[in-house]
Amino acid sequence: MALIEIRGVTKIFGPRPEDALARLRDGADKDRLLAETGHTVGLSDISLDVAQGETFVVMGLSGSGKSTLIRHVNRLIDPTDGAIRVDGADVLALPPRDLERFRRRKMGMVFQRFGLLPHRTVLDNVALGLQIQGVARAKRHDRAAEWLHVVGLDGYGDKYPAQLSGGMQQRVGLARALCTDPEILLMDEAFSALDPLIRSGMQDQLIALQARLRKTIMFITHDLDEALRLGDRIAILKDGVLSQVGTPAEILLHPADAYVEAFVRDVNRARVLTVDVVMKPPECRITSHSIDEALTQMRGSREAFAYVVEDGRYRGLVTRDALEAARRNRPDGGRTLREVTQTVPSVAAGTVLEVALPVTLESPYPVPVVGRDGGLSGILSRQSLARVFGEPANDGR
Ligand SMILES: Nc1ncnc2c1ncn2[C@@H]1O[C@H](COP(=O)(O)OP(=O)(O)O)[C@@H](O)[C@H]1O
Ligand SMILES: [Mg+2]
Repeated sequence: MALIEIRGVTKIFGPRPEDALARLRDGADKDRLLAETGHTVGLSDISLDVAQGETFVVMGLSGSGKSTLIRHVNRLIDPTDGAIRVDGADVLALPPRDLERFRRRKMGMVFQRFGLLPHRTVLDNVALGLQIQGVARAKRHDRAAEWLHVVGLDGYGDKYPAQLSGGMQQRVGLARALCTDPEILLMDEAFSALDPLIRSGMQDQLIALQARLRKTIMFITHDLDEALRLGDRIAILKDGVLSQVGTPAEILLHPADAYVEAFVRDVNRARVLTVDVVMKPPECRITSHSIDEALTQMRGSREAFAYVVEDGRYRGLVTRDALEAARRNRPDGGRTLREVTQTVPSVAAGTVLEVALPVTLESPYPVPVVGRDGGLSGILSRQSLARVFGEPANDGR
């Protein structure tokens, strides 16, 4: 179920947004509306679902409406039109007191400029949300110290923000947002002000944290690489209009329009895509234990080899030649299936193509992709790899 539902949200800035809304509906675009009425379209008819536990990235150039969108989720902004529901609750219908509670308990925000209070210690900054909730000093300090530990800032609690580097301040900002244990994290260009190396470290840290915490994260960035790295799904905004929503692979392989295509053109696909989007089911999977049964299972296959899976776990590859040779020799003590199963190069599910590519090119057989559970997730052939690298970016599906 979607935790955050955004339905037909339009936001127009200016003195008479209702009038401008009618013109927008009649087909006027952002530029024309501004020229003719002085109103700015922040968002135009946006509908989105963010699922529980996903990292949802909103990407677009400056002025495309990213901040306007995220501010609707905690209702720092009211829409001109449309509806927003969070965990089933109509955010626009919340009375002021409930709205305060909702913001404090359900969401944490991380901003680009850290937003730390300069005259409070790092520990007191992290504990701020709990203090507002009325949590006693000792308890909130304990919890704040735990979160400082999680973001790798043990021992910095007594310092003041100005004594920390930018990257460290942003980790304080993240710890502060997490300290109230909110279900939703809203991050508006949270890493954009950081140096590239620090930034990449913060991305790693967020990925590792998220693997553990499974928060619902709405992450805003103008940086495509960051979007592709962090997003389970990515929404691309242009001039307040949604161009596309999709997984990184969908966006790279099937850009919805010329705008998205121009964005993704220079991305190194091999670094972003994983074997999971390219692998195919194997033509033949041997699940039996004997040579005879294995040959029977191979009978319908067009290939001269098959992959052996024993009790759900991938074991290796057998060729039809080896199986038949083993059967011919049987009278004088034939060999078992295990003895004719050979080890071939394999890759783990989730491996990026950059790593899997040389393995696939050097292997005489399609490369098995082994899942975390040890099972055979699929196989990677040179042909399917060639398709990903060879096809034009927009193949119209
Ligand atoms: N309070 C405001 N008053 C008038 N125009 C605004 C206001 N906030 C945002 N806008 C306009 O709305 C559009 C989207 O802005 P914003 O959401 O800040 O974009 P982004 O975060 O993607 O850079 C821009 O054209 C911006 O100038
Ligand atoms: Mg912004």
